[in-house]
Amino acid sequence: MAVTAAICAASAAAGLLGLFVVRKLRQRHWGYCTSKRSLDGLVCIVTGANSGIGKELAKEMARRGAKVVIACRNLDNARQAIEDIRCSGVPTGELVKLI
Ligand SMILES: NC(=O)c1ccc[n+]([C@@H]2O[C@H](COP(=O)([O-])OP(=O)(O)OC[C@H]3O[C@@H](n4cnc5c(N)ncnc54)[C@H](OP(=O)(O)O)[C@@H]3O)[C@@H](O)[C@H]2O)c1
Repeated sequence: MAVTAAICAASAAAGLLGLFVVRKLRQRHWGYCTSKRSLDGLVCIVTGANSGIGKELAKEMARRGAKVVIACRNLDNARQAIEDIRCSGVPTGELVKLI
């Protein structure tokens, strides 16, 4: 019984290790934006900016100094997104709510 449990645990560990290795190999081909170009003086409008990709995009644009218009369906969500972006340590850029 103990041997069976040990084999199961070893199989699970090997499976997890395999997934980790596959992910690391695939990661090398994922695209990353490495640009650090300043967006100072630009106005960017991001729709769906209160969560997910839109929020990350808005954060990055603010980090680079843009005036970012956070366009959302819900004003409270837009307000919360701006608060989150500021709390995440992005003091730059101007963040404007738009519904
Ligand atoms: N996440 C990924 O890795 C990934 C990869 C490739 C493609 N995509 C695609 O990129 C898009 C965004 O993905 P996500 O992960 O950032 O999604 P998400 O976190 O669910 O964010 C979706 C955003 O779009 C807004 N939205 C949804 N339906 C809307 C509508 N009918 N009118 C106006 N705004 C609307 C949402 O606003 P509310 O909060 O008001 O609902 C929210 O701000 C999706 O189409 C997704 O399929 C995502």
